[in-house]
Amino acid sequence: MAVRKVRDRIYSVGAVDWDRRMFDELIPLPEGTSYNAYLIMGSEKTALLDTVDPTKTQVLLDNLAELGVDRIDYVISHHAEQDHSGSIPAVLEKFPMAKVVTNAKCKNLLMLHLHIPEDKFMVIDDGETLSLGDKTLKFIITPWVHWPETMVTYLVEDKILFTCDFFGSHLATSDLYVRDEGAVYYGAKRYYAEIMMPFRNNIRSHLKKLAEYKIELIAPSHGPIYDNPQFIINAYADWISDKVANEVVIPYVSMHGSTEIMVNRLIDALMKLGVRVMPFNLPKSDTGELAMALVDAATVVIGTPTVLVGAHPAAVYAVFLTNALRPKVRFVSIIGSFGWGGQTINQITGLITNIKPEIIEPVLVKGLPTEEDLKKIDQLAETIFEKHKQLGIA
Ligand code: FEO
Repeated sequence: MAVRKVRDRIYSVGAVDWDRRMFDELIPLPEGTSYNAYLIMGSEKTALLDTVDPTKTQVLLDNLAELGVDRIDYVISHHAEQDHSGSIPAVLEKFPMAKVVTNAKCKNLLMLHLHIPEDKFMVIDDGETLSLGDKTLKFIITPWVHWPETMVTYLVEDKILFTCDFFGSHLATSDLYVRDEGAVYYGAKRYYAEIMMPFRNNIRSHLKKLAEYKIELIAPSHGPIYDNPQFIINAYADWISDKVANEVVIPYVSMHGSTEIMVNRLIDALMKLGVRVMPFNLPKSDTGELAMALVDAATVVIGTPTVLVGAHPAAVYAVFLTNALRPKVRFVSIIGSFGWGGQTINQITGLITNIKPEIIEPVLVKGLPTEEDLKKIDQLAETIFEKHKQLGIA
């Protein structure tokens, strides 16, 4: 992977991971990803901003060699997760004079996860600056994008904001800058849904804090650089807002077709009412797509049969994930078929502890749904539509 010049004496030296298809053994990466690291050569000191995933250490070292770097004074660590920090030990071995510059929380996590010795660190606080000679780094602590220790760096003279995970997109591309806004919007929204959505309130205060800065480029550590920063700032402002859309997400699973008949009836009824519907047949769906659909939707309806005296495990997983991602969903309901009873409703509502939605009366039917049962589904669609109307979105 070639070194790319961003500005005068500022280089992108990270790695594109074209083949990676899973992150944290949780998040599907259909478009791969990148681990961006940036080298800033000031008139007096040189800083490396983040490193790369340990699987790509050699790419980073080769890139530094290509630039003829023989000294690194500072390794700025924005985030202790290993896809950005994992090559710090190798960089310290190659450049033993370098100090790892980060905040106190990140220092502790780096010592914990990578066993970096304490004397290798220089600890900075929120708002502190570090001079590289003619270039100045200003550190802004932004917790919970993605872990509690995350921070960003503003390069004062060049007006570049280096954000690590924040504003990132899991997107393997040869483009240094955003060239296809549609593709990047999709990738960044998916990334927001999977990684950032639980921290909406933190992000709101970070966006306020960052509004004070004049930013010409946002350089994240996943995906391309934003040379139109307002594009991603506006997208984030929309995603984190309290505004919900006239949309219903239906994660469902069906064993012998009865629950699916109910789901299809609900889809048709909602469509007739002009409500946007996003069904996810869970055994065939990508959880990243489901997460993305949850960003804006006002309502979620879980479709599940009753099996082993409760909800289907695939539905339980989807509900657990939804609750963990803390979307701004306002209404939840449950539909499905059962044979002889069970605890489906209690089980599912008991899993929704974080998002505290209003529960709309579930529709569970015995066996193959009758026309009378399906009329209850039509009624559920009407109720959802009315609720959306009350919110002023339908
Ligand atoms: Fe890209 Fe939270 O690591």
